[in-house]
Amino acid sequence: MKYGFFDDIRREYVIDTPRTPLPWINYLGSEGFFTLLSNTGGGYSFYRDARLRRLTRYRYNNCPLDQEGFHLYIKDGEMVWNPGWQPTQTELDFYQCRHGLGYTVITGKKSGISVVQELFVPEKDNCLLMRVTIENTGNEGKNIMLFPYVEFCLWDAMEDGSNFQRNYSTGEVEVSGSAIYHKTEYRERRNHYAVFWANREPEGFDTSRERFIGVYGSPARPEAVFGDGCTGSIAHGWQPIAAQEFHIHLTPGKTDQLIFGLGYIENAEDEKWESPGIVNKRPALQMMERYRNSESIDRELAALKAYWNALLSHYTLRCADEKLSRMVNIWNQYQCMVTFNMSRSASYFESGMGRGMGFRDSCQDILGFVHMIPGRARERILDIAATQFPDGSAYHQYQPLTKKGNSDIGSGFNDDPLWLIAAVDAYLRETGDLKILDEAVPFDNNEQNKATLMEHLRRSFRYTASHLGPHRLPLIGRADWNDCLNLNCFSAHPGESFQTSGPSEGAVAESVFIGGMFVLYGGRYADICRSRGLSEEAEKTEECIREVREAVLRDGWDGEWFRRAYDAFGQVVGGKACSEGQIFIEPQGMCVMAGIGVESGEAAKALRSVEERLDTKYGIVLLQPAYTQYRLELGEITSYPPGYKENAGIFCHNNPWIVCAESILGHGERAYQVYRRTAPAYLEDISDIHRTEPYVYSQMIAGKDAPTFGEAKNSWLTGTAAWTFVSISQAILGIKPTLNGLKVSPCIPKNMIEYTVTRKYRGAVYLVTVQNPEGKETGVKEILVNGEAFSDGNILPVFPEGSIVNVTVTM
Ligand code: BGC
Repeated sequence: MKYGFFDDIRREYVIDTPRTPLPWINYLGSEGFFTLLSNTGGGYSFYRDARLRRLTRYRYNNCPLDQEGFHLYIKDGEMVWNPGWQPTQTELDFYQCRHGLGYTVITGKKSGISVVQELFVPEKDNCLLMRVTIENTGNEGKNIMLFPYVEFCLWDAMEDGSNFQRNYSTGEVEVSGSAIYHKTEYRERRNHYAVFWANREPEGFDTSRERFIGVYGSPARPEAVFGDGCTGSIAHGWQPIAAQEFHIHLTPGKTDQLIFGLGYIENAEDEKWESPGIVNKRPALQMMERYRNSESIDRELAALKAYWNALLSHYTLRCADEKLSRMVNIWNQYQCMVTFNMSRSASYFESGMGRGMGFRDSCQDILGFVHMIPGRARERILDIAATQFPDGSAYHQYQPLTKKGNSDIGSGFNDDPLWLIAAVDAYLRETGDLKILDEAVPFDNNEQNKATLMEHLRRSFRYTASHLGPHRLPLIGRADWNDCLNLNCFSAHPGESFQTSGPSEGAVAESVFIGGMFVLYGGRYADICRSRGLSEEAEKTEECIREVREAVLRDGWDGEWFRRAYDAFGQVVGGKACSEGQIFIEPQGMCVMAGIGVESGEAAKALRSVEERLDTKYGIVLLQPAYTQYRLELGEITSYPPGYKENAGIFCHNNPWIVCAESILGHGERAYQVYRRTAPAYLEDISDIHRTEPYVYSQMIAGKDAPTFGEAKNSWLTGTAAWTFVSISQAILGIKPTLNGLKVSPCIPKNMIEYTVTRKYRGAVYLVTVQNPEGKETGVKEILVNGEAFSDGNILPVFPEGSIVNVTVTM
């Protein structure tokens, strides 16, 4: 069952009922100011950091769901409704939500009144804008009232949701003209406030939730709206809000338009006040002035469109499969931008309070984003590297606002260091900017202790090389990519963290997965050494890699697949002899991507085992058989009921590893099959089962052991976005950046007869048409570059900036 449709021309997903299985959201904003917005107008805003600079509140486990947001109430006689249906849930005559690239348009119609809410964050400003167009589509004159409503958060979302004895006394606002200023804590250590404004004087306002909604009222029935209108309340503590009241008279066929904004303003310390106790409103007034009229909104929307056109023009596909095209050209890349911005911090599943930016997460996000804005990827790489410890290990997370490592979670996730190599390697392949390796970057944000980025990479590599266990496989530490495989933690008490309890350093528990990573990204590090003329270091690096590769094949191989790990007692995890958790997906993907066992046959066997044991119609599950009991020596992974999350869920992130691995063996049919199974556009028809947005990936789909097999959770913020983009753009369609140029090596299904990729690469545009007249899965027979035979392998050289390179590839 579907709840809408893709409008590819406008690059929108159009939702035609407010009763989606879950709120289906969009992300507005791309650098400083962000808003999460659902299809019914729910959501919240923040500046940079969803925990520390939260502008509006959101209650995740509210009932009914998704009540807080950017709602408009329309009062038409005694009837009250919202164009987005929530929170009154008054039945509408017509409803539509169009989620586009960086904007959302919600339309509701009721009894001859049509209201269109257009919401977006302008490209270069710290505010959310909302243009509201009201039309009388009936044949009688109408007098209606319109009330916008937002509930402020007292900045630190964690405090806001817990420290009530303080919060209930701190809230402060100012009202001036058509604006409501939220200035809680501005008197003390903050230099920022929020402002909600309209481009027209309202008839009334409220800033106290108690007065607008009522102590025992609800957003579904605000007392002011259902009763006698706004009361002009000024909040003193409790819950500050911004609500306004407008009276609108419309003759038949007439339209009226209002513009609202929610802005974030910072003032310099000595410019905080206009007069004692009165905030300096100058920057807010200037902001309001910028968006006074409809033309300014049109202008900003056009700028936003141009911004996205440019971003998405770096990789475009023309092919016969419209679902594939919409994933590659629009939604997968869009999601890559969102994951790059948010890491795993703020979604409808990630509260924005629990996690900052993940070290490994952000490194992987770069793989799917770097081709869009390499400059921002560069900055991010340097920020991440600056949180690395001098010994090469890493904080597992850092806060986006401070860019400092988060010591609550600490370090000891032993895959983290290698992901830095992966990110830098992707950046170098995209840009060729070797100069980044000479940048001086602090360790642990300590300006007194800096080294070049190259030295950071060296320490990443050495960290793993010097932390090998009894089988000469890398030690796992607190966990590797699988945060829930906690072999050294032994958490036995409720409430304690599965990851940070117990000793972080175990001298025994080893990860075959990190072994695969070490071979893959260690190899990339050796290539980087060579490109810097460090051939001796490259050779030494390769020597270490050889040893680990041998260890993987010797003690990491189980006969039919790669083992997962050795636990703290030296027992195999992920082997045939285990009663549960016999086979895991991660080492199969990673080891084959690293090329381990490709020539000697283990790789093909491992992938066959994945197909036989882990495949389901909705994707590949993480492990089998699912764990049925909690096991102290394995940790969080066994805490989930069978079929959920890391315990045999379809953890979408590592499905594309299998796609990449299959492509290494030239299995185009299988690679494409695996790709399609989790790609959201192919799941649109089962939205009632899948439940999350059909335009983005979710972290997890319940596996075959789960009672809700096929149900997805945790949409949007997942490394799946970056990895599926890598898998489709590079492994399947075969356009791969390398240090020396663009490699073309398709690995496709037999019936894919022709496609064209337009790839902007290092300033040139490559128009690559792949023809497959004989229905092959892999292999390139001939390449023509600008009409001439290219006989120098399949890496196209870097062309001068501005060149247009026509490439025809025959398979
Ligand atoms: C984390 C990732 C981790 C994955 C698997 C996600 O929630 O953000 O860092 O690799 O879970 O455990």
